[in-house]
Amino acid sequence: MSVAKKEYKRVTTKSLIDMKSRGEKISMLTAYDYTFSRIIDGAGIDVILVGDSASNVMAGHETTLPITLDQMIYHASSVVRGAGRSLVVVDLPFGSYQSNPKEALRSAIRIMKESGGHAVKLEGGKEIKESIKRILNAGIPVMGHLGLTPQSIYKFGSYTVRAKEETEAQKLKEDAIMLEKMGCFSIVLEKVPATLAEEVAKSISIPVIGIGAGSGVDGQVLVLHDILGMTNEFHPRFLRRYANLYDEITSAVSRYVEDVKNVEFPNKEESY
Ligand code: KIV
Repeated sequence: MSVAKKEYKRVTTKSLIDMKSRGEKISMLTAYDYTFSRIIDGAGIDVILVGDSASNVMAGHETTLPITLDQMIYHASSVVRGAGRSLVVVDLPFGSYQSNPKEALRSAIRIMKESGGHAVKLEGGKEIKESIKRILNAGIPVMGHLGLTPQSIYKFGSYTVRAKEETEAQKLKEDAIMLEKMGCFSIVLEKVPATLAEEVAKSISIPVIGIGAGSGVDGQVLVLHDILGMTNEFHPRFLRRYANLYDEITSAVSRYVEDVKNVEFPNKEESY
């Protein structure tokens, strides 16, 4: 395992910026465990995001708010063990960085030390500037997240497209420039009009990675379980499914149940 890992050159925050400057698009997916991390790392994904969407996908919560820092560290350390080449970015969960910069730094340090992740992601712009500054000053790479920021869902009231109005669009553009100036290495832009996303991507030199933000950005991110068709009740317009694992798994498990009931599993070859 460790020998295989050494065959690959690790994607770094700098290599992502270089990819943008040479026009190479960046691929990013979420993962929350070792097995999926190993598979998608081997398939050539550039960035693995240990998203707080684990709160929805892994724990079945309605929002991303309930997941804790300890739970994020558990998921992230499993993902890091499976990732030989990809850059692993870990979400700071709701409540772990908003109250003050000191707490934000403490949370980011715990993620880096206890999970072995390579960078952290925080939701928001100007309002969390001091927290971002503190984390960057400690030498921890930061990815920003603007547009639809799911940790603020109760402020927004719905998961609809953000920054359609000029005031919000203007603030988003200013936040993106601020994040670049502060030293963030990349920004996730979620569910905003494609024209605005393209304008933001062109206005800064760090990569803008979109989700529901059109093709004029520097890379794309989606939730792994969504592209694999495991979350069959979720149908946003921005999602493309590359497999239908919900049906595949249902069929495999049904056949297993049938074989066990009919004593067709295990057979002689499968027994000692
Ligand atoms: O938590 C997450 O999965 C995310 C992506 C949707 C960008 O933040």
